[in-house]
Amino acid sequence: TNPLVAFGAGKVILLGEHSVVYGYPALAGPLSFGVTARGVPARSCQLDVPATADAAQKRLMRKAFSRAARLVGEPKVKVTLEPQLPLSAGLGSSAALAVALSRVLLQAAGRAPSPKETARLAWEMEQEFHGTPSGVDHTTSAEEKLILYRRVQGPAGVVGRAREVKSPRALSVVVALAGARSPTKVTVGALRERQARWPERYRRLFAQVGRLVTEASKAVEAGDLEGLGDAMNVNQGLLGALGLSSPALEDMVYRLRGMGALGAKFTGAGGDGGAVIGLFLEPGPVVAKLTRDGVRCFASQLAGPRPHGDRS
Ligand code: MEV
Repeated sequence: TNPLVAFGAGKVILLGEHSVVYGYPALAGPLSFGVTARGVPARSCQLDVPATADAAQKRLMRKAFSRAARLVGEPKVKVTLEPQLPLSAGLGSSAALAVALSRVLLQAAGRAPSPKETARLAWEMEQEFHGTPSGVDHTTSAEEKLILYRRVQGPAGVVGRAREVKSPRALSVVVALAGARSPTKVTVGALRERQARWPERYRRLFAQVGRLVTEASKAVEAGDLEGLGDAMNVNQGLLGALGLSSPALEDMVYRLRGMGALGAKFTGAGGDGGAVIGLFLEPGPVVAKLTRDGVRCFASQLAGPRPHGDRS
């Protein structure tokens, strides 16, 4: 029999991280790389964890895998993982992993890995990884499209609503890593305490971000990349107001703006460091320059028409 192969894409949030946890919309798109999972027939349902993961990550992966495996009847398959993403860089590596594993498990159980089924199973794993995530990461990874996402509290727990946002123009970002990353749990937890103490003040800021996200998705659909960039810049200001930015992140944001970004902000959890995105019409020379200066970075097209044969 042929081995089973499945892919889970990494993601970047263009706008709306953190406020998405409180029910406001976020705009997020898939990276062209992520995590690949391979399955071969075996005596029992097993996971081979990647050697690059640390002990805590391995423990979590095994726990998440068993939870999902039980839900699909523990098909007899041995699964190995090949991450092409840095783990814990804020680029959705855990969601990419959850999506790749879900797809392989569903296939091994003889079920079709539709985006909905995949997202449902990946959600179970994400709860092991994150506690109370909004669901934007694994939904973006499962849909593999630029989406407007909203977390909705249903009777059976959290359900995400996603709709595709189509871009008539190529929409590309440069992703640059800055400083040492803070765990998502830490930044999400600290914000939760502040907003519980001063709920009105924080609700106003979340609502402002929510309006920006709506405006940004309209700008994307209209091909107005300058409007999108400006919304990203204002979102960065509000993330600062929410207490989520830091000198390392701000330095990189200003560096990208200095290199001509239409908009720049951090993406994901924020805190002491992590990933920063810049919207560029021509990302190639920017990546070349930053790389020469020792910055870990890459370009990715999140939406829009692609030059023929290009996958990046
Ligand atoms: C993390 O990629 C995005 C956050 O908004 C957390 C979440 O949505 O669960 C910070």
